[in-house]
Amino acid sequence: MNAALRQKARVRVGTVDDSRAYQHLMGQGFSGNWFAERFQWQYFGKVSRATLFIAQIENEPVAMLGVELRRLNNGWLSATVIDVVVASGWRRRGLLRTLEDSASAFAHQSGAAVMTSLLNEAGRCALGRLAGWSMVCQIPRLVRPAGPFPAPSASSQEALPSTPVFQVERDEACRTWRYVEHPHHRYTLLRSQSGLAAAVKSFVDGSPVGDIVEVFGSNRDPAALEEIYRLAADHLAANGAVAVVTWGVLPKAEGKLLRYLGWKEAAQDRYLAVKALSPDATILYDREVWRLQPADIEHY
Ligand SMILES: CC(C)(COP(=O)(O)OP(=O)(O)OC[C@H]1O[C@@H](n2cnc3c(N)ncnc32)[C@H](O)[C@@H]1OP(=O)(O)O)[C@@H](O)C(=O)NCCC(=O)NCCS
Repeated sequence: MNAALRQKARVRVGTVDDSRAYQHLMGQGFSGNWFAERFQWQYFGKVSRATLFIAQIENEPVAMLGVELRRLNNGWLSATVIDVVVASGWRRRGLLRTLEDSASAFAHQSGAAVMTSLLNEAGRCALGRLAGWSMVCQIPRLVRPAGPFPAPSASSQEALPSTPVFQVERDEACRTWRYVEHPHHRYTLLRSQSGLAAAVKSFVDGSPVGDIVEVFGSNRDPAALEEIYRLAADHLAANGAVAVVTWGVLPKAEGKLLRYLGWKEAAQDRYLAVKALSPDATILYDREVWRLQPADIEHY
């Protein structure tokens, strides 16, 4: 850790005038061409207003990290770390550590019980070195060719476990912001007879791929769950997808159902990371308590 550099770096909260700095830094970490729209939508949108921390050295923005406050379904506030980038010439000098200090202080002040993040390999290596962070698990990426399904699953008769699972709370306003007002992706919301819903999107990744982004609703009947996954995959196939993917840290029974329906784990490098800020929240270090479907492998 470069102590002199840490002293030189000043962390401040980003404003609406930081769009260019955001676009510049995002371009140093991620591919894409819609960062200007993303900046407005993510940090200054109607529903979700994340807070952006920017580290500057001599007035030059050299690193950033966003924090989005979201509720879990048990009411706990979760501070989700997003958009983590350090400019390429400034890496391995402690800037992530500096920004994470600010983010942790902000999370504590906001009353968050936990911090979470969805990380790539570099993020896993770096954030995993910082105090309190634990890598809970890899986030499975499940893929199946678009095509006929097997007969309805016998496992549909098995009750899903009634143990409570932790999820990120999404209400209608949040889903409208997330799916209808998204500046880049186009989603379709589907509903099944049994009242479950799915958000799906198609994208081209060499060949057309369909993505089941989220399956939601209060019906916990396994046959209902099977119905909505079939409906979503059939819809995507009918619209040209040659494969259907879904990401998720899912309860065991749901994972088993997806494997029965033909989904298989594919290569991926995404991790769920958790930092408990209260003793109760250490339960979230356990993969088995989660049901997390990260829309577009982000956390909202
Ligand atoms: C990942 C990233 C944010 C790390 O930022 P950084 O400022 O270099 O991290 P720091 O210097 O604060 O390092 C924090 C700790 O992680 C370690 N670390 C940092 N990058 C690492 C890497 N790629 N592999 C292994 N360890 C790493 C550091 O050695 C340090 O540990 P130590 O203090 O115990 O020695 C930066 O490399 C980056 O912007 N990468 C490109 C964008 C990206 O992939 N972001 C992550 C998205 S999830």
